[in-house]
Amino acid sequence: MRFQAPRGTEDVLPEASHAWQRLESTFRSHVAKYGYEEIRTPTFEETELFLRSAGETSDIVTKQMYDFLDKGGRSNTLKAEGTAPAMRAMIEHNLLQQIPQRISYITPVFRYERPQKGRLREHHQVGIELIGSSSPAADAEVIEIAVRFYETLGLTEFSVLINSIGRTQCRELYQAALLAYAKSYVDGQAEESQDRIRKNPLRLLDSKDSEAVELMKSAPSILDFLEPESKTNFEELQRILDQSRIQYEVAPQIVRGLDYYTETVFELQVDTIGAQSAIGGGGRYDNLIKELGGPNLPSVGFGIGIERALLTLEAAGISWQRSGLDVYIVIAEPGLLDLGRNVSDQLRSREISVVMDYDGRSMKSQLKQADRHNSRFACIIGEDEVNSDSLTIRDLRTSSQQTLPTQEAIEFLCATAD
Ligand code: HAM
Repeated sequence: MRFQAPRGTEDVLPEASHAWQRLESTFRSHVAKYGYEEIRTPTFEETELFLRSAGETSDIVTKQMYDFLDKGGRSNTLKAEGTAPAMRAMIEHNLLQQIPQRISYITPVFRYERPQKGRLREHHQVGIELIGSSSPAADAEVIEIAVRFYETLGLTEFSVLINSIGRTQCRELYQAALLAYAKSYVDGQAEESQDRIRKNPLRLLDSKDSEAVELMKSAPSILDFLEPESKTNFEELQRILDQSRIQYEVAPQIVRGLDYYTETVFELQVDTIGAQSAIGGGGRYDNLIKELGGPNLPSVGFGIGIERALLTLEAAGISWQRSGLDVYIVIAEPGLLDLGRNVSDQLRSREISVVMDYDGRSMKSQLKQADRHNSRFACIIGEDEVNSDSLTIRDLRTSSQQTLPTQEAIEFLCATAD
């Protein structure tokens, strides 16, 4: 029997993993420039954490959680998003006495969705959270980090959509207005979805149903309902983004799929990777930490899907060379294995990557292996080399070859290999 990866999951094969490493290391060094430090949380959490945070009407909670009972009868859920687990950890370890806190993470995320291009059941996110500031400058920092991250990766064509969904009070007024506007549509829905919409009418705005999409085009805008302070905050955010020369569009239809957001929400989108166009998203969540039993701290963050980021870079023609091997050691006969291992050791202690054959392959076949490894040099050891305490170095880019005394050859390889 042959097994396959579970539906909606992907293997990252060796030839693709260098792109992941590049993206992740770029993310780490990028966010470090803004003072963010990494947090790692477990792959699963108590189910209740996601019920409390993502919201009972969100798709994530109603349809997509990977939940299971463990052998002790506890209900657990595979990480359905990165923010609530990070906040749980910050509260649990009393790290919120001192604010602001800036944290980042790279994490798998599990959602039982219908798989398609760019939509997986296990995907990965890089994300950040800035905890303890209510300033629009904090929102701007988070948006700037997402935008500059993509720019650092070489992407220039993407949209930044921002919106404010206000605070609880104005949102209630808006939700009532939205429900009144969409009354006949809502009345025509099945009872279950009526229920969901009535509990959170904002769901109408990101509904995939074509009738709802059409209807929402002329729906009232949340921006007309904002309280004065939310309005001022949103204007200040735009002023700072303008000053930082970050291009954005105000998009009142962006409400996001998680219920914890307050005021600023945003998404980065592209039109090059099909229907799943959101390559990052986030916003402010001023009530979440309190909801989870922590102090009352305003916070803001984002998550960027790694798979979608890589699809986008590929579509934009941005690719990274696989870094090849430095040296492949070719031995003329198996008796030279120890000598080859000794040279390998010396090179590796100088940070040079080395592979050699242990299985008595012919020299021709060893040179083929060197090619397969995309090796820069072959270091050939045969009888002549042993007798003269030397090594033959073949430059596999130019095919030129030279024989040098062993120590000199090692120095040459260390100086030339990149
Ligand atoms: P989210 O919008 O649900 O937000 O996910 C963030 C990003 O993850 C999306 O923009 C997308 O790039 C990627 N993504 C989401 N679902 C999938 C999927 N099924 N397959 C592939 N990629 C996907 C959050 O999760 C929030 N925790 C972000 C946040 C952090 N807000 C505040 N802080």
